[in-house]
Amino acid sequence: MIDFNLYWVDDDFQDKKTDLAWRLGQYVDTLSSFLRNRGINPIFTTSACGSILDDLAFSKTDLIILDVHLYNSIKNKKEPVSGFEIIDRINKLISHPPVVLFTHYLDIQTSQYRENFDSQQAKNIPKFQKSDEGVLHLAEYISELALYPPFSMVILSDLHVGYFQDKERQSIFHDILFDELRDLALRTSINYLVITGDFAWKNQGEDLTKAAKVINEIRDCLLVKQSHQFHFCPGNHDVCFNNDNPWESYYEFVMELTAGDPQLRHRFYSYHDRTERLRSFKDRISCLAVARGSQDSILFAALNSCNIENNDTIVKPEVGEEQWNGLRKLLENEPINQLRIAILHHPIFAAPGGDFPDERPLFDQAEAVHRLSNLNFQLLIHGHSHFSAVYEHRVTILNEPSCHSASKLTVIACPTCGAEPSSSTPIRQYMIISIGQYDRATNSRSLRVRTRIYNQSNKTWSEGGAPFDSKIFIEDSRS
Ligand SMILES: [Fe+2]
Repeated sequence: MIDFNLYWVDDDFQDKKTDLAWRLGQYVDTLSSFLRNRGINPIFTTSACGSILDDLAFSKTDLIILDVHLYNSIKNKKEPVSGFEIIDRINKLISHPPVVLFTHYLDIQTSQYRENFDSQQAKNIPKFQKSDEGVLHLAEYISELALYPPFSMVILSDLHVGYFQDKERQSIFHDILFDELRDLALRTSINYLVITGDFAWKNQGEDLTKAAKVINEIRDCLLVKQSHQFHFCPGNHDVCFNNDNPWESYYEFVMELTAGDPQLRHRFYSYHDRTERLRSFKDRISCLAVARGSQDSILFAALNSCNIENNDTIVKPEVGEEQWNGLRKLLENEPINQLRIAILHHPIFAAPGGDFPDERPLFDQAEAVHRLSNLNFQLLIHGHSHFSAVYEHRVTILNEPSCHSASKLTVIACPTCGAEPSSSTPIRQYMIISIGQYDRATNSRSLRVRTRIYNQSNKTWSEGGAPFDSKIFIEDSRS
């Protein structure tokens, strides 16, 4: 059962003895049983008047249901007099739960609220008629919202703990980052933290020990402590060539991050079910990890793009056949209509920012697009980048009897948060990705990308370039 918190404001909640109150009670019951039958546990907070903003600040609310006519006998001048006034107040908040209208005034042509329904403030708010049929439409809407909800992710990459030679400078930078993320979580609800590798700088043993503490602090700041809220993959700086097993330090790092959290260990390819232990990382596929988000409708796959398996002393960016097959196997029992997000360290293709010798893209680049889109991944997030961008790929296979169009793959390139990316782009940056709720009519979710950039001279974080808005289409290429 998924818990779903509804805040319902309707003047008919005031007097339980009237016919209208009785009918509202019936609607609550209908809604309740409809949602329970779909595995959703509705938790209601009801109110007859509109003083809900204080409550919203202190409670977890997934949806606000408003009637437009409110109970107002208290004569409190600060109290909203209609549902539209509540909408006005809520819209002033930086972040708030979705709102719907459920009212019988919708089909009354002479209603005093007629103009409000068509106004700019209420234009994008879903409206439901208060009737036996309307409550079923509302129930369908809530069911979609609960099973395929909107969510936000913070994307960090290339933290490079240990980059600053001066320990004090390193800790000042981290403290400023913690304050920034704590402040962000106060203003915006963050559901997931994704880190696309390069936790260490050049001294993997020491850097990764410190990095585990930094990551735990970051999770505290963003309030993403549950295992399904955190997803990460290794980067080339996390591999130690001075050790007989180059993955040993990264394995210790993962053990530290997953201490006391069996769910977080369970997602790794090298997790052994019978002994309930995470076996030591000895090859690239050991680090492959697949986990659902807070709903079955969201899935994260963390790939390891660091190939060190040919006795090289440098990392070759490649996912490789064995890992692609492993990923396919791990996805066999996953539901369709899932938003699948792949994370890896290296860029798929060369960056438009320039040809940097230390920024080589994947060796199996076109194959990666083809494999991921065939496995119904719609979004790929990578790090290791000297630039920050969103780009899209679409592969159409022509050398088959019937033309097969693969899903579009949207790619987000995330630059460094903790080191100087390059002399040409000397900024530290991180990203906030907002994904809208699933829209069955268009089979899509909205995608919004914001960046935050660090100003080294005055040691502050501020809003980055223009936000990017697009759509992710949830196509099922198997159908
Ligand atoms: Fe890197």
